[in-house]
Amino acid sequence: MPLLAGPLSTADQNCGGVSCFYSATTKVTDYKSFVGPLMLWDVDGKLQLDFLLQKGLRPNSTMLDMGCGSLRFGQHAVQYLEAERYFGIDVNSQVLTLGYDELSTSLRRKLPRDHLLVTSHYDASHWGSNRFDFAISASLWTHLSLSEIERCLVGVKGGMRKGGRFYASFFECPDAEACKAPVHTSSGLRKSDRTTYPDRDPFHHRSMSIRNTAEKHGIRMRYIGRWGANFYRSLPNAPRRQRPDIMLEFVF
Ligand SMILES: C[S@@+](CC[C@H](N)C(=O)[O-])C[C@H]1O[C@@H](n2cnc3c(N)ncnc32)[C@H](O)[C@@H]1O
Repeated sequence: MPLLAGPLSTADQNCGGVSCFYSATTKVTDYKSFVGPLMLWDVDGKLQLDFLLQKGLRPNSTMLDMGCGSLRFGQHAVQYLEAERYFGIDVNSQVLTLGYDELSTSLRRKLPRDHLLVTSHYDASHWGSNRFDFAISASLWTHLSLSEIERCLVGVKGGMRKGGRFYASFFECPDAEACKAPVHTSSGLRKSDRTTYPDRDPFHHRSMSIRNTAEKHGIRMRYIGRWGANFYRSLPNAPRRQRPDIMLEFVF
């Protein structure tokens, strides 16, 4: 069983600003390891819920999971939220279906199937505008170019309430010069070393570039930084001690 999810092995390809691995047609052989290391399936989903609870998510909040995959987080969100409050978008219909079918009957009752949308257009307004109090994209922007991130921001904005907040994580590179080349990050744990790229998946970006992109569309950005570090530390066999991605907050 591979410890790391697939995208790292496709890093030598450029697929036009999106992930070569995460496409509409990628065949999903294991719905859990498709979205990340298998041993972190439970941890990662709960981590996202805990993070959003700290940010003010409440049972009556309405929330969007952009790039929701096989509902690693979605299962916890549906459990926590009141019925029909969770919505998810993913480009891959197979991963959505597999994730949905694995939910318990009681969770499926709380999540109408038409709350899960298959599209590559980040179309949060599909269910109407002014709908969402919260949105999250965990481990989606790490696979996207800046122009795709811009499309994602605009798409999410279309569904957010005034004052609604969107959290998205990405791989950061420190400065303009460093960002032009591949960046190798050594964690001290060989299995979680990684190389990120300016022009292919897994992508890195400067937070300033993302901020400028957001401001172009009237969206305010706040830098949050590392998130979830404590959770990973509590796992004795985790392939890394800290999440390697940086979290940003966008206010609409
Ligand atoms: C690393 S997985 C993370 C899934 C989920 N956020 C989680 O934390 O479990 C990335 C997901 O983004 C989806 N994805 C990639 N490009 C997308 C796009 N343009 N629109 C929507 N989803 C996309 C992939 O199919 C995949 O399920």
